[in-house]
Amino acid sequence: MARAIAYTEIGTPDVLQLINIPVPVAGPGEVVVGINAAGVNPLDAKLRRGARPSAPITEPRRVGFDGAGVVTELGEGVTGFAIGDRVAINNVLGTYATALAVPVERLVRLSDGVTMAEGAALGIPIGTAYQCLRSLNVSKGDTLLVHAGSGAVGQAAVQYATLWGATVIATGSPARFEQLRALGAIPVAYGDGLADRVREAAPEGVTVALDCIGTDEAIQASLELVEDRDRIATIVRGPDAAEFGIRAFSGGSPIPLTDEEVAWRDEAIALTVNLIEAGDFQIELGPELPLAEAARAHELIEQNGARGKIVLVP
Ligand SMILES: NC(=O)c1ccc[n+]([C@@H]2O[C@H](COP(=O)([O-])OP(=O)(O)OC[C@H]3O[C@@H](n4cnc5c(N)ncnc54)[C@H](OP(=O)(O)O)[C@@H]3O)[C@@H](O)[C@H]2O)c1
Repeated sequence: MARAIAYTEIGTPDVLQLINIPVPVAGPGEVVVGINAAGVNPLDAKLRRGARPSAPITEPRRVGFDGAGVVTELGEGVTGFAIGDRVAINNVLGTYATALAVPVERLVRLSDGVTMAEGAALGIPIGTAYQCLRSLNVSKGDTLLVHAGSGAVGQAAVQYATLWGATVIATGSPARFEQLRALGAIPVAYGDGLADRVREAAPEGVTVALDCIGTDEAIQASLELVEDRDRIATIVRGPDAAEFGIRAFSGGSPIPLTDEEVAWRDEAIALTVNLIEAGDFQIELGPELPLAEAARAHELIEQNGARGKIVLVP
């Protein structure tokens, strides 16, 4: 048998159970990946607690979209991958498991310089950050404000925007300022008076803003500071974006991503692997917990209780 985390009812983290599942088999166009690390994302917890709509649960629902591991079986028609390859899984449900069948188009090869934990931290956060910056057309000459710059999506946005020549103001708690500076951002504390602190940090003005937290404070500061509402986006307040006249990318938005935006999310993963390998991009890793402690991982992510990407290790 293989093992996986699943739940049968919406609820608090303790609905997450370690269960036995049949050993996955690679269908046509798929490989089986023996998972070494599963990335924990806020979305996993939002789905579990019912904060994002989902279909009724009719059988144990699996958890996790990002992971990394080793190819153990090739399905019919698979080319380009071999048994033993180290791979990252990008956005396939069920990565909180010991093994998973994955369509090859959802895999990215990991070079030796990228760890399994780093590979498991790529999919959702990196794809989202990169796509948002492409959609907002961030480039040299821009001053970008990233709300929650210290989070997984935020840190990726800071690094890509900096690489592309933008000046970046990133919000975080003061304990995270050193990390934000190391990534090339000017750190600013969130909380009362945010817009004034950003003005002080960016006297020439802010041209574009990305909200990765969804607080009223973040939305209001962006509206105050950025003239062009088409260059303000949220990834959390999708349902409210139209009311504010700003853009939203997923995060509950009724407007789906375009095909181009979906493609950007995917292309980001291999690009980022190359940048990590070259020493030009870093992933901040947080606690590694055993797979059986998925509930603890969800508590941590819901309480902002860990620095860096939380990873489950089967
Ligand atoms: N729409 C999409 O496609 C999409 C994709 C990925 C993620 N998301 C959403 O984006 C959000 C961030 O995801 P993530 O993976 O980056 O989460 P994360 O790694 O857990 O980071 C969350 C960050 O929020 C910061 N934070 C906490 N309270 C804050 C406040 N009041 N103001 C500003 N920042 C605050 C924390 O900063 P400190 O530690 O410095 O306090 C922390 O770094 C989540 O809600 C997630 O569901 C949406």
